Amino acid sequence: MVINSKRLIIAPLRIEDAYEMRTWGLHDNPLFEDYNFPFERDEEVKKWFRYKTFTIKNKYYSVKDKNNKLVGYLGIKNRSFIRKSSFLGIVFDPNNINKGFGTESLVAFLDYYFNRLRMKVIYLEVAEFNHRALKVYEKLGFKKIGYYLDYFPFQEIDVTHKDFIEAKSYFVIDGEKIYNYIYKMKLDKEGFLTLRKGDEG
Ligand SMILES: CC(C)(COP(=O)(O)OP(=O)(O)OC[C@H]1O[C@@H](n2cnc3c(N)ncnc32)[C@H](O)[C@@H]1OP(=O)(O)O)[C@@H](O)C(=O)NCCC(=O)NCCS
Repeated sequence: MVINSKRLIIAPLRIEDAYEMRTWGLHDNPLFEDYNFPFERDEEVKKWFRYKTFTIKNKYYSVKDKNNKLVGYLGIKNRSFIRKSSFLGIVFDPNNINKGFGTESLVAFLDYYFNRLRMKVIYLEVAEFNHRALKVYEKLGFKKIGYYLDYFPFQEIDVTHKDFIEAKSYFVIDGEKIYNYIYKMKLDKEGFLTLRKGDEG
């Protein structure tokens, strides 16, 4: 399977793609630390790749530009073949964000997901502080269906950092533990198709 859009090519993720993630940039904002690719050693990268791809319930894809450079990856996790549902994950090279690649890849991928894979619904979870991701999901027609506090994955964050202070209202610190507010979002086939039709017309 290969999906082509104007600037991008989406294909099943391979171990070589995981090795290439070591060349990616890093987020300056410590709130996004969890999205920096953390591994250097081949063994660690292999382990990460196996962890991501070992079950048929998860399927990961590379997103490359037309020069064959890996600009991001996306995944559908916890696929239910009965409900025809899954959870979306998406991470782009920090050097390649805000260029429209996230939106372009998701438009192409969701078209494949609903029309070729014949899936019915896709869910995701997004941190409330992640305004860029929220903007992309809302543009694609995702609707908020839940709001809750969850354990923040980067507990070592410097809470005196200006980016943390700016985003403080999205966090709760309870003793030693840091939590952040999360939205659960949902997009069904009808919602996606209606929106695409609107864009075309
Ligand atoms: C989330 C992500 C996949 C989006 O992909 P992207 O290529 O950066 O997004 P795009 O360039 O297509 O679109 C970004 C949109 O957000 C807007 N935006 C950027 N920063 C913003 C901010 N701080 N506040 C509000 N909107 C913002 C842009 O203007 C653009 O909207 P527009 O097309 O209407 O102008 C990518 O940024 C990424 O990998 N981020 C780090 C990992 C992550 O957050 N993953 C998602 C976890 S749920």
